[in-house]
Amino acid sequence: MSNPLIRNVPTHVAIIMDGNGRWANSRGLPRTMGHRKGVEAVREAVRTAGEVGIRYLTLFAFSSENWSRPEAEVSDLMGLLKAFVRRDLADLHRQNVRIRVIGDKTNLRGDILPLLIEAEDTTRNNSGITLVIAFNYGSRDEITRAMQALAVDVAQGRLTADQITPERIASRLDTAGIPDPDLILRTSGEERLSNFLLWQAAYSELLFIPELWPDFSREVFLDALKAYAGRERRFGGLSQPTLAVGS
Ligand code: FPP
Repeated sequence: MSNPLIRNVPTHVAIIMDGNGRWANSRGLPRTMGHRKGVEAVREAVRTAGEVGIRYLTLFAFSSENWSRPEAEVSDLMGLLKAFVRRDLADLHRQNVRIRVIGDKTNLRGDILPLLIEAEDTTRNNSGITLVIAFNYGSRDEITRAMQALAVDVAQGRLTADQITPERIASRLDTAGIPDPDLILRTSGEERLSNFLLWQAAYSELLFIPELWPDFSREVFLDALKAYAGRERRFGGLSQPTLAVGS
């Protein structure tokens, strides 16, 4: 259901969920508690996004660079993602949420890949909000894999080099079929993209907010959407109003 209080609802919001560690440190808690609280913020963000009529919500859950964190933290993040899918999949399915996973799915350890595939398969035909989970995701890696696939097509004669267009490149990215994000939001005050959706961000509005991810409540999300609604998007052209859902 759309929320009449929010105008110009973006079709696609992508979020860099940053600040779990700082949230925990500031309370004298282990970092893992920040990630745990972060999962609650994920649930609330999905609910709020569905409520206001956002069609795609992408969450940066684990980057291809996050493997360099201490083993205990990596295991904890894996455990939380697995627990999220195990506990929340049925509920998300009931809410008509469709799940997509972007990122490199090769060489994932243990039982994580079957769970991610189950989440995508179970919800494949749902028509509500699409929750895109970026897992083992890095934008340069995604673009490199797309280029490698195109290079094979050229080498095997299925494409000529000049048939490589921006549209064909986009269709080989993990996000194929998903519109580019209208809004990329990062919590915790850091102002960078950190290898997230670099191709797709060409015309995205960027919003950096000070709240740490575990504090990302419905109110904080609605405030961010209000800030977005005041932006003017020009897509390289001249003035035009911020695009509304479905336009
Ligand atoms: C950044 O905080 C956050 C992450 C690296 C992971 C985000 C993961 C979750 C919220 C939980 C699992 C996700 C889902 C979709 C269920 P940080 O640790 O870099 O914080 P810091 O910069 O304050 O240290």
